[in-house]
Order: sequence, then C-alpha cells, then structure tokens
Amino acid sequence: MKKLLFGVIALSFITACNSDNISNQNENPANDNTSSSDLAKRGCASEEVRQEALNSNAELRQRLATLETNTEKFTNDLKAGKVLPDGSIEIPVVVNVLYKTTAENVSDARIAEQISVLNADFGGTNTDINKIPSEFQAVSAGNTQVKFRLVNTIRKATSKSSWATNDDMKKASKGGIDATSPANYLNIWIVGKMTSQGKTILGYATFPESAGLWNDGVAIAAPYFGKTGASSPFNLGRTATHEVGHYLNLRHIWGDANCGNDQVSDTPTQTTANYGKPSYPLYNTCSGVQRSVMFMNYMDYVDDAAMFMFSAGQKTRVQSVLASNGARSGLRLY
Ligand code: ARG
Ligand code: ZN
Ligand code: CA
Repeated sequence: MKKLLFGVIALSFITACNSDNISNQNENPANDNTSSSDLAKRGCASEEVRQEALNSNAELRQRLATLETNTEKFTNDLKAGKVLPDGSIEIPVVVNVLYKTTAENVSDARIAEQISVLNADFGGTNTDINKIPSEFQAVSAGNTQVKFRLVNTIRKATSKSSWATNDDMKKASKGGIDATSPANYLNIWIVGKMTSQGKTILGYATFPESAGLWNDGVAIAAPYFGKTGASSPFNLGRTATHEVGHYLNLRHIWGDANCGNDQVSDTPTQTTANYGKPSYPLYNTCSGVQRSVMFMNYMDYVDDAAMFMFSAGQKTRVQSVLASNGARSGLRLY
C-alpha cells in the first residue's frame, strides 16, 4: 500500500514535468533570457574555480605541483618506451654468469629461454595456465603487465663452483661480478651451485626494500636456470619466476609461518609450504577455518610443473612497486 502511494506521487511529478515540456516546445531557445551567442559557446568554470582555490590554498598548490611532476614522469616514461603502449613495464635484465665448468656456463639460447619463461609466466601466456582450477580462475592475475628484456650478459670464469647465500657472487672483490646499475636493471647471477647450512638452494632474491643497493637482484644455481639442460623437477624456468616474484614484492604464499600471512587477500591462508606435485583439492585448516589452498601458485615450493599462476592480489603488489612512485620505479629508467 505504501509502495503504491509512492508510485502515484512519483507519477504525478513526472506528469507535471512532461506537461511543462510540452507547453514549452514551441519556444525558440534564443528567445529566452540567454543570448544566442552565449549559448553557442559552452561555458565551463572549472579552471576559474580552480584558480580561485589555488590562490588561497598553499597545500592545494603543492598537491598540484606533485601531480604535474608525476604526470610528466609518466608521460616521459611512455615516450621513452619505459611504459609500453598497453601500460606494461618492460624490465631490463642483466645476466651475470659465474662458471667453473662448461655446463655452468649456460648458453645464450638458454638465457633467452629463461627470459621467455618469465615473459610467459608474468604475462599469463604460459601454456599450462588452463590448469588453474575453476575455483581460482576468478582470482587469477592473468597478465601482470610486467615484461622482461635481456640487455646484457656478463660472463666470468671462476675456480668456485659452490657459493653461499652471503652475496659473494655480487662482489668482484670476492670473486663475483658487481651488479650493473641495480636501481635500473634487474641483475640475475647464475652460479654453479648454492648451499645454505648444508642444504641445496635453488635461488634467492632481494625484496623491494633493497632496491638499488649493491646486492639487489636474484641469484640462481645453473641447474635450475632456463629449461634445456636444466635439472628435473626444476627445469621449466620457474625458479626465476619465483625469485623475480620476491624481487617484485611477493612473499611466500604461506607467509613463512604456520598459517602465516603473505599480505595478499585472495591467496587462501595455508598452513605451510607444499612440495612436489600435490593433488587438487588440498585442504588446510587455519584458525578453525578449512580452505582449499592455492598450492599451484608460483610463490609456493611445488615442482616447476605444478605451479602455473599468480593471483590478482599478487599482481597488485607487483604493480605497486613498479608504479612511478614505487620502490622499483628505477626499472623504468634505462
Ligand atoms: N627455494 C627457493 C626459494 O624460495 C626457490 C623455490 C622455487 N620453486 C620451484 N619450483 N622452482 O627462494
Ligand atoms: Zn622463495
Ligand atoms: Ca593470503
């Protein structure tokens, strides 16, 4: 009854408006109080109102200055090809190869293969993307809009095959290779093998708070770099995908603690790391809540063949550090 009453009132308003329009339809607009020349030129007061506000507000003037600086930076980045027309950022990559044996001196072809894997995995064009369970398809990152381009390969023979995770490979003074302009290039070091406390390490990375420091970048042991000739089950180039994920602001999906937090809301909380090739669905219970976990995420520890997605929330974290005011915005400048 109330609804009906409202409808009747609303209808009577519309009717009133219509009848008004009808009664006015013969009037020439030029005959009203506005002159015809004023009407032909549209008026917009935005800039005038803006100027008035700016004149009386120093904080607003500062905000405008910052905004114009950022706009100009983005425009220059776009012009210089540092932001591609589709909005993607292309990260320039320097590969530093430290080899004792010829097998450790990974070929240019294998380096190119690894760059292709990074482009596929970050671009969402990896051939196994169709394996994402339907449950997680809605939160798949798809294209993270990050691309990679090899700009240089530096090779150095060394008597050392086994390296620690103490950054020696990044220091010429310790037999390594100094980083090339680490604020502006993703440096990747390839070494024969790496161990930490007697355990084999596939790779390790610095996080964005290290942007531009001498040790900034990713280290990977040769058997887990690229595909051809790499060591199964880590022979699909995904150690680099995982490590570059860290470099671009991503944490392990289990948050490095029991039921930890990776600061990404669309990756279900999981108890711990997964290994091998888990079968889907895999359920974990954290704080009494049972969830199907996203073990096929690149930031878990499963085999290369078992990982094939980033999430949308992870994409946001990656993009935040590559934004023009982000910790890794220097990668736009090359
Ligand atoms: N354990 C290494 C790290 O956390 C890399 C793990 C990569 N996993 C893989 N399937 N390639 O830094
Ligand atoms: Zn990791
Ligand atoms: Ca999460």
